[in-house]
Amino acid sequence: MNDRRPDDMVRITTPELADAFIEEQVKRVKEQVGNRKVLLALSGGVDSSVVAALLIKAVGQQLVCVHVNHGLLRKGEPEQVIEVFRNQMKANLIYVDATDRFLDKLAGVTDPETKRKIIGGEFIEVFAEEARKLDGVEFLAQGTIWPDILESEKGIKAHHNAGGLPDDMKFELVEPVKILFKDEVRIVGKQLGLPDNMVYRQPFPGPGLGVRCPGAITRDRLEAVRESDAILREEFAKNGLAGKVWQYFTVVPDFKSTGIKDGKRAFEWSVIIRAVNTQDAMTATVENIPFDLMCHIVDRITHEVPGVNRVLYDFTPKPTGTIEFE
Ligand code: XMP
Repeated sequence: MNDRRPDDMVRITTPELADAFIEEQVKRVKEQVGNRKVLLALSGGVDSSVVAALLIKAVGQQLVCVHVNHGLLRKGEPEQVIEVFRNQMKANLIYVDATDRFLDKLAGVTDPETKRKIIGGEFIEVFAEEARKLDGVEFLAQGTIWPDILESEKGIKAHHNAGGLPDDMKFELVEPVKILFKDEVRIVGKQLGLPDNMVYRQPFPGPGLGVRCPGAITRDRLEAVRESDAILREEFAKNGLAGKVWQYFTVVPDFKSTGIKDGKRAFEWSVIIRAVNTQDAMTATVENIPFDLMCHIVDRITHEVPGVNRVLYDFTPKPTGTIEFE
């Protein structure tokens, strides 16, 4: 397999170029793996989903996908992973609902970096536990892409994705999209038959909704984030903003304020909406959302999401804010 992107490699911009890449990689993966087994942590994000689809094409049931639901995924995500990979692509998929484990470990933890570390550490532990239950797995597939390699070389990102697995777990890596840029990965994914909302989705952080529940995560606020995010995504998709705005989501901080519901005092959470555009996530501008649409979204969130009586819009660009809220 090519370890580096060749300088003269033609950018994959068409279905034909994607098909040629897929054919080439399927051949290479078959040569590398033979009749042995490959393990993949399938988050449902673009990169791991494309790797899964490619490996299913190359080695079918020899691929074992593990989808860990850490309880911090968006509404409908675990269901979509099961539907697409287990039901449609007939993948060998292990689904682990580890929600309680993650939320128990996170209970009462307020520091943002500690929260991220707990989520990352627990993820590796759950994944390693599942891996140990399997016999004869020799390969670990990863959705490493070309910018990951460039960033790790520059010392920006601590790579590889496999970093963190216990020392006694040694696998040979299979990284079939590691010479591709993100836009190329998406085209390849589409050619492999993945749905558009999986291939063209907005970035979503590894610690998931955990960083959109600032302070100690509680189940009620987590549900409020999940439900309000689903409403925002639905309205942005319906109103043509989904492909136009780079990243958009909701946040539910841990404070309550007084409001009125059904003529009675309601002391409840606030939902903050964030919608930003950026080229490279290093800086970001705030998106101008049509006022009428904003009012409609506020109306839906305050009426449909239990425990929420206000909606606020974050007007802060990056800098001085970051894209995420925590
Ligand atoms: P910030 O908030 O730093 O975000 O302006 C820049 C981009 O990175 C994503 N992000 C994360 N991704 N783990 C991730 O995998 C994280 O802990 C994390 N924090 C931020 C964020 O969603 C945005 O796209």
